[in-house]
Amino acid sequence: MITLAVETSCDETALAIYDSEKGPVGDILLSQAKVHSPFGGVVPELSAREHTRNLLPLLDRLLKNTGFDLRNIDFVAFTLTPGLIMSLTVGVAFAKAVAYLYRKPLVPVHHLEGHIYSVFLERPVDYPFLALVVSGGHTDLFLVEGFGRYTFLGGTLDDAAGESYDKVARILGLGYPGGPEIDRISRRGRPVYTFPRPLIDDPSLNFSFSGLKTAVLNLVRKEKNLKIEDVASSFQEAVVDVLVEKTVRAVRETGVGRVVVVGGVSANSRLREVLKDRSAEENFEVFIPHPRLSTDNALMIAYAGIERFKRGVTAPLDVNPEPNVPLQEFGKVWS
Ligand code: KG4
Ligand code: ZN
Repeated sequence: MITLAVETSCDETALAIYDSEKGPVGDILLSQAKVHSPFGGVVPELSAREHTRNLLPLLDRLLKNTGFDLRNIDFVAFTLTPGLIMSLTVGVAFAKAVAYLYRKPLVPVHHLEGHIYSVFLERPVDYPFLALVVSGGHTDLFLVEGFGRYTFLGGTLDDAAGESYDKVARILGLGYPGGPEIDRISRRGRPVYTFPRPLIDDPSLNFSFSGLKTAVLNLVRKEKNLKIEDVASSFQEAVVDVLVEKTVRAVRETGVGRVVVVGGVSANSRLREVLKDRSAEENFEVFIPHPRLSTDNALMIAYAGIERFKRGVTAPLDVNPEPNVPLQEFGKVWS
């Protein structure tokens, strides 16, 4: 089974052709980071405009690179939700046009489902497992008991982890996206400042990062001559501590000893390091995709699309994108 997958939920325009038997045929991705960088974050209108500009040239390049004939796809997979509504709309319209032209079915994918299954592009994971989804828009913990069977265990009450990285980077005068920048400069810094670890001792599996960002802002306003690599490293230590300790709590509470960690923030080198140590101490397995598959890409949408299509799920031609359908509901509606 072969699919063309389309991902435009935020600021990456991504396409992939994936064969369920042989793996990736090819994939292509264009980051809009340079376009949004002067604004310190994604500007929705610019994102939609860039997707509109780039989708067809990217498809053209992908087909030339792979020599693939689009008539050979079995269906078109696309991100239906969640994301920036105008950006999703461009991708959905594009997916519909290809499906209509080639008379192929359309298969909707939830962006977070794509992230979770990014791990499966490298190796399968036995069910049940826990999923920590840490991206620019989400910080969620799920129990996954099978494909499409998701139980929400907890999530952020305010900013997502990636969003707090991006906001703190902006406070520190670093570029967008902030996560990779903070990750990089933290290696030269020391965690000399003690920032709060919001909700770390709270019995829930919820997160909160907006107070942490404010603590960084207050420090930067108050103290002159700060070494930004020390501030970055101290901030990163706090975020990583909270993410890892909540994950440990989820493992203890559910008794599930396999955890997939996905989404842009899972590319973080310190998070990977601490997870490795804590999982060895607490005796659970951690699965993190290659950093290239942690951040947004279309291969993950292809993989999840194939699993949905195998279950007979297709979308009508008048399907509309949705800005925010919770994953646990999507799994029930599109089954
Ligand atoms: O999954 P993703 O590519 O897009 C969304 O679905 O949001 O995640 C993007 C987020 C951004 O906030 C970015 O700053 C963060 O992931 N990110 C990182 C790293 N690489 C990307 N955060 C921390 N460390 C990184 N190395
Ligand atoms: Zn994402």
